[in-house]
Amino acid sequence: MEDHAKIHTLLEEADAFVRSRLSEKRYGHTLRVAATAEELARAHGLDEDRARLAALLHDAAREVGPDEFLRIAGGWGIPVGEHEWESPKLLHGPVAAGLAEHELGIEDEEVLEAIRAHTTGSPGMGPLSLVLYVADKIEPARDYPSVGRLRELARKDLHGVAAEAIRRAIAHNEGRGRDTHPSSLETLEWLEADHTAQSRIEQK
Ligand SMILES: [Fe+2]
Ligand SMILES: [Fe+2]
Repeated sequence: MEDHAKIHTLLEEADAFVRSRLSEKRYGHTLRVAATAEELARAHGLDEDRARLAALLHDAAREVGPDEFLRIAGGWGIPVGEHEWESPKLLHGPVAAGLAEHELGIEDEEVLEAIRAHTTGSPGMGPLSLVLYVADKIEPARDYPSVGRLRELARKDLHGVAAEAIRRAIAHNEGRGRDTHPSSLETLEWLEADHTAQSRIEQK
């Protein structure tokens, strides 16, 4: 009971926190991701409140400036790779996880991991992280040719839909002559291997 009250207080604090840090447009996106993440959590037997909490905070650092990202990352010991130097906004997941931890006192490692990994994915990411990663890509305002198929798949197969979303991101990047973050490629490799193992188990 106490835990229940605690997470509800955190949900309210997280909502107020991001409302004060984000433009109206991005706050709207945040609320849609939160509702989608809750729905997916319910469909896959995961904790809806924790999914909502991670989703509310996922873009909390999205409007930080490039220099600020690098400064904060330095202060909190967040790893900055070649891609992050070139495009510091890639750090908005890890920096948001830092804000969740340091400003809101969130200690739930799965919630923090979900926030941290939502942009590029992370090999071995847990179910809550997969829910957030996918919810961010399929929230109701997202509009691209394969989104309907992803929404359908998301209800049935979390690993499968995450793999599909990464394949789509890779194709999208290729179309624009951009390379894909190595973490996304590693995550896809992990998902494909894991997915095969999973369906082998299910077939038995
Ligand atoms: Fe994001
Ligand atoms: Fe987002």
